[in-house]
Amino acid sequence: MSSELSAYVSDTTPGRGALRPARSWLHSDAPSRSLNGPWRFRLSPTATAAEDFTDEGFDDRGWDSIPVPSHWVLEGDGANGRPIYTNIRFPFPIDPPHVPDENPTGDYRRHFDLPAEWSDAERVVLRFDGVESLFTVWVNGVGIGAASGSRLAHEFDVTSAVRPGDNVVAVRVHQWSAASYVEDQDQWWLPGIFRDVTLIARPAGGIEDVWLRTSFDHGRGRVDAEVTAEASAFPVTLRIPELGVEQVWATAAEVAPVDVAEVEPWSAERPRLYDATVSTAAESITLRVGFRTVEIRGDRFLVNGRRVVFHGVNRHETHPERGRVFDEQHAREDLARMKRFNVNAIRTSHYPPHPRLLDLADELGFWVVLECDLETHGFDKVDWVGNPSDDPAWREAYLDRIRRTVERDKNHPSIVIWSLGNEAGTGSNLAAMSAWVHARDAERPVHYEGDYTGEYTDIYSRMYASVPETEEIGSDDARSTLMNCTPAQSARQRGKPFILCEYAHAMGNGPGAFDQYEELVHRHPRLHGGFVWEWRDHGILAETPDGTPYYAYGGDFGEVVHDGNFVMDGMLLSNDVPTPSLHEYKAVAQPVRFVFDGDKVAISNLRHSADTSDLRFRWRVEHDGTPVDAGDLEVPLVTAGESGLVPLPRIPVSPDAETWLTIDAVLAEAAAWAPEGHVVATAQLDRSARRPAPAVRHRTGWRPDAGTLTLGTAGFVGGSLVRLAGRPVTGPRLELFRAPTDNDEGASDGVEESDASVAGVSSADLWRRDGLHRLTTRRLSVERTADALRTLDRVSAADSALSVMVESVWSVEGDELELRVEIEPSGGWRTVWPRIGIRFELPDGTAPVDGAEWFGLGPHESYPDSLRAARTGRFSAGIDDLSVDYARPQETGHRSRLRHLTLRSGDAEVLRITAVPDRHGRRPGFTLSRHTPQQIAAAGHPFELPDTTTSHLIVDAAQHGLGSRACGPDVWPEFALRPEARTIRLRIAGV
Ligand code: GAL
Repeated sequence: MSSELSAYVSDTTPGRGALRPARSWLHSDAPSRSLNGPWRFRLSPTATAAEDFTDEGFDDRGWDSIPVPSHWVLEGDGANGRPIYTNIRFPFPIDPPHVPDENPTGDYRRHFDLPAEWSDAERVVLRFDGVESLFTVWVNGVGIGAASGSRLAHEFDVTSAVRPGDNVVAVRVHQWSAASYVEDQDQWWLPGIFRDVTLIARPAGGIEDVWLRTSFDHGRGRVDAEVTAEASAFPVTLRIPELGVEQVWATAAEVAPVDVAEVEPWSAERPRLYDATVSTAAESITLRVGFRTVEIRGDRFLVNGRRVVFHGVNRHETHPERGRVFDEQHAREDLARMKRFNVNAIRTSHYPPHPRLLDLADELGFWVVLECDLETHGFDKVDWVGNPSDDPAWREAYLDRIRRTVERDKNHPSIVIWSLGNEAGTGSNLAAMSAWVHARDAERPVHYEGDYTGEYTDIYSRMYASVPETEEIGSDDARSTLMNCTPAQSARQRGKPFILCEYAHAMGNGPGAFDQYEELVHRHPRLHGGFVWEWRDHGILAETPDGTPYYAYGGDFGEVVHDGNFVMDGMLLSNDVPTPSLHEYKAVAQPVRFVFDGDKVAISNLRHSADTSDLRFRWRVEHDGTPVDAGDLEVPLVTAGESGLVPLPRIPVSPDAETWLTIDAVLAEAAAWAPEGHVVATAQLDRSARRPAPAVRHRTGWRPDAGTLTLGTAGFVGGSLVRLAGRPVTGPRLELFRAPTDNDEGASDGVEESDASVAGVSSADLWRRDGLHRLTTRRLSVERTADALRTLDRVSAADSALSVMVESVWSVEGDELELRVEIEPSGGWRTVWPRIGIRFELPDGTAPVDGAEWFGLGPHESYPDSLRAARTGRFSAGIDDLSVDYARPQETGHRSRLRHLTLRSGDAEVLRITAVPDRHGRRPGFTLSRHTPQQIAAAGHPFELPDTTTSHLIVDAAQHGLGSRACGPDVWPEFALRPEARTIRLRIAGV
């Protein structure tokens, strides 16, 4: 590679020729032309290989066509290379600021027409909203400039290069550059021109930039305008028709704040926007302003004087087919979905999103932490030696990034915090970014999690802090020091508002403990909530050789280094399907709390500032899940932060069924994000009459037997079940294994809270070591009486002396069959167990068991530390809908606290099972699946699961919690399952 080229690619300064200062992304009536659409495209494997193509006469007819915006690795069916996924690691040698000569380089060309009218324009500007990672631009063969900063906007003045009529623009994009060292976010590496390209006519006398800073104070609003325009562009007029504002400034010196006597504030809950225009004779800019004041007072973060609690998510821009290419319709639907699930905040991890996203956030209502495009996490590997964050050679690049970030989006009321970036160590360049933001925007605080000791940021922020640690941060115990802090630094950090910029790692099945974090927020006002990691999976739609579609993750494209399925850690699957964790989140974050007290219910409004006028309250009573009465609950208006005590309706209590009251708070009218009647919050009250469980009948007269017999509808051979209700059924066999979840496979260090965890070793490894997935059985005895059968089994694994004794007693009880299984571990088990259950195989027989109807907790799967979304009721689902299609197959489908279960085959009922509570009143859960835990554990993707005709029913006396150990704390001790004796008792009726 020529030294000139090499110097260019490894230049730490952010390109040359892009216009500065950066400016807002504005809606203007000045003419513009989108250059999106098909471009000619040629890909070269190195930065040098390609012949020059910038000359206007160059013949590109032999080139391919590619859509702009797009990522070239997602176009061309693999012909243009493949996506690469890494979390922390650089997919190239750590040799900053250099990158390998093998540097895929995309050359783009297209013609465009410059309208004749544009000759009036003072300047013609070419804007790129996003190009990964380094690019150079030529227009009509004239070099225009170069830029890096993939998720940032760059504008170039092309006035002297363009002419009326036909023009040609050429762009060369290198996948790797010095910038790649500071864009090491945990996501796919996706090169190309992936955001809009726009040609803009800048009129003489136009408005270069405008910033309408707004504030709100007790009903009054203020607009403080900053107008950037030539002196000759004045007068400038600000109009907000709805507020009667029409303010003309004759000169720049006259521009002054405008006070408005009466406005409605903007909040994430009531995102009140006012249409505004800022105009000169030559140009008119349209903005939507929201009035709000952001401030930090002591350790409180306030908007409009009230404390904000972030029920937030980390949002990456990702789509299974488009990658980071923005699709407004999809983004709007995604944001509406967030609102429906009680999400009120977004951290734009870890770069500015497409600028339109912020318009949507203003409109739909979110508190936004807008993050700069910056991460250097790969330097962790070398103990942060050479980290750009503290290297003067990179200072300008850092400052350029934050300027472009803040300037582009400064007008949005939704943005309440600026974030410098993510996981870039610490250093003077970050401090310089912060200083620049403070000088430019005195109002909005600066966040950066890596500033552990709080030297240059305004908010104390952590990621994946455990519940006890979060509690410690919230409390005022001056003796306890905070992570990486001295006592004095701890005091400094405790003087600031705290957020969890990431918590509750939602990878695969999990996380547990949302509710524990939530509870802390209500006890410690310094804690302002947090942002779940993360909103959605980043799967890329791919196909197996036989054409089966699937969502690919790291390694599926043959990457040299990759981080597997760590990119699949969202509450939404790649195909937009909410996982049970999102339902759990919704229940935990619900903005209305119900506390039942005798014949009354206290209804608290936990919102920031909105009252309950948008809500209606409905109630219903069910007997064993069957509705018997329903109505509306009269609830007086409850203002934010207040409660109201409301009498409950009369509840008809059934003597022989469970009686449950359910109250829903629903939208009284349709919102922009949900229809009328959408459930915002729910609570249940158990009003069941007490009914004792049938006692275990003591039997005598057991005698040894070969065990080949019939009891009721059950047939046995050699003591083992072979038929039930006229169908082949085998089991029960002890099942202690579950297909490890991503959290079970995690070995992160945050285990100090749980004696069940071994530091550095995953629970899944311990289970495999103990052979839980390969248990074998030795039958010790078979005995019977006239109407009962009893077997005793010793269950254990190869190469292990540990065992479990399993006694199974089948008996006829009236017209039902009872199965009672006593499970008793030997001494010596030291780890947690994933489950204590029994498994039945239900082979196809005449027709497969393919559905269930149950009374218990539902409708979604639930686990001991994720039970808040589950309600008691009657539910039904087909077998495939009982499992979640996690990108990497794993434990799924457990429905807790079962009372009655009916298995179905098509429309026909096959078997009715009643779960009898154990002597502590505990009820088992069930899982109905097409696959065994062992089969699920062996599959890396859903398409690897074998075709089966057998269904599997597992009844669990208990399941282990979920935790968050894929990245964060292990299962909380209370929800960790220790080996222990358990009883499972089922009553079975054939149908
Ligand atoms: C954090 C990081 C995120 C993501 C997450 C794990 O450390 O900021 O970008 O990698 O861990 O999924």
